[in-house]
Amino acid sequence: MTERERRLVVVSNRLPFVLSPGPDGGLVSRPGSGGLVTALLPVLRDRGGVWVGWPGITDHTEAVDAALASATGKAGYHLAPVALTAEDQAGFYHGFSNEVLWPLFHDLQSLCNFDPVYWRSYCEVNHKYAQVILSETYKDDFVWVHDYQLLLLAAELRRAGVTSPLAFFLHIPFPPLDIYLKLPWRFTLLRALLEYDLIGFQTLRDQRNFMHCVRTLIDDVSISHRSSQIHMPDGRQVRVGSFPIGIDAAAFQRQARSPAVIAAADTLRAELPNRELILGVDRLDYTKGIPLRLEAFRVALRQFPDLQERVTLIQVVVPSRDDIPQYRDLKLRIEQLVGEINGEFTRPGGWVPIHYVYRALDRLDLVAYYRAAHIALVTPLKDGMNLVAKEFCACSVDSDGVLILSEFAGAAAQLQHGALLVNPYDLEGTAEAIHRACAMPAAERRRRMQLLRRAVNRQSVFRWVNGFLEAAIASDLDAFPLPDDYLPSAEAEHAYWDTELA
Ligand code: ADP
Ligand code: G6P
Repeated sequence: MTERERRLVVVSNRLPFVLSPGPDGGLVSRPGSGGLVTALLPVLRDRGGVWVGWPGITDHTEAVDAALASATGKAGYHLAPVALTAEDQAGFYHGFSNEVLWPLFHDLQSLCNFDPVYWRSYCEVNHKYAQVILSETYKDDFVWVHDYQLLLLAAELRRAGVTSPLAFFLHIPFPPLDIYLKLPWRFTLLRALLEYDLIGFQTLRDQRNFMHCVRTLIDDVSISHRSSQIHMPDGRQVRVGSFPIGIDAAAFQRQARSPAVIAAADTLRAELPNRELILGVDRLDYTKGIPLRLEAFRVALRQFPDLQERVTLIQVVVPSRDDIPQYRDLKLRIEQLVGEINGEFTRPGGWVPIHYVYRALDRLDLVAYYRAAHIALVTPLKDGMNLVAKEFCACSVDSDGVLILSEFAGAAAQLQHGALLVNPYDLEGTAEAIHRACAMPAAERRRRMQLLRRAVNRQSVFRWVNGFLEAAIASDLDAFPLPDDYLPSAEAEHAYWDTELA
């Protein structure tokens, strides 16, 4: 491609829209789920640019391009699909990404399946992404790669002769050295990561873990500047930093105040009158700690009988990765626990302790759940950040909600002062936190929620983008043009929400 104005090029495994065959033989699109999409979609809408990724369908025809063009409409950015075969999906996506890196990086190494076939597929597919980037981008574009599925991409691009700066952000945790060491491809992967010029993590904890691995496993580099710069033998410098991701808090807040959400939240509360509504919202994933959360809720009902008939847990689970056996097993385990707990406590008067919702909600319903809930129960075993916790706070516009948050969520770093922090493995501790949240005086709820809302507003996703791109500039990457005080335009926000609601 010829030279022209510099654009932001976001690269992630998935595009923000997932295509699937529709009833009339065509393709239908729906917004993707997960924190990465939620965070980056408003950024692309606001800034424009290109998003490179997989459209979620393995048959790549011209219909894919047409469906993607109609999904983005006039949003001002362009989607560039990467065509993956069913074999790629099996080896790269289900296999190496989600049966090796996902469990390992969440400290669950016993769930890993270190199949060498998966590794080969991972290498091949990272190569495919590199080919698409080469054909879709201009020399001066700013290429920003996201997440664990694409750790090898910079190395692939370098092999193809790319010398321009490349940036990477890891949305999930980086594991401690003794866990990372289990990976059979630990040296290759770490060396490949060092081909990026800027590497961003969610928390200082992840950054430190990464630097510990580099110090221990890579012997021809030196590290300086309080662990934020790695000097490579060829004279290159790799910058490393932590950039906690945020949400588009103003947009969530605005929607939480909309008449449609207020009406939907009122309906929910009217259906469950005189109850403390406790909410859990998660993708179906074993890292989210849903079974332990349900068990903690059962302990709470047993140890604090005053909670019976006074609380209802609404657990929303969004279907995810259901081709992977562990995810299917998890779904069965959740259903079994919900059945057991409801069987033990349901009263003839109509009280059912757990309402279980297994489907992807549209944005309005999700925000209505956030607004209606009194308490959010966010108890992942480990999580890069956890945006649900932040979204709940943004939507608690009356400052009357309590956040119970796992200390192993990245979000705990920013939300620790207002949330009730729990260890999700500690059933009695979590049960006590539930009881405490239900009994918390209104003044304390308000004080805590105000702290939380301030933190969430301060750390918006737009600030996150700014911080990352400023770091890219500081590391002598060529300057990316940044407005002085970068804020989303109202127009872009509306376009974002319109799509989400469509
Ligand atoms: P993860 O990225 O691991 O899924 P996060 O909590 O960081 O976890 O992000 C989950 C994202 O998915 C949130 O932004 C949330 O709004 C979104 N989400 C949650 N529930 C639904 C749902 N039912 N349908 C669509 N998106 C959802
Ligand atoms: C997390 C990961 C993302 C991923 C998302 C949804 O947020 O960090 O990279 O896209 O989960 O998972 P899926 O496997 O459906 O893409």
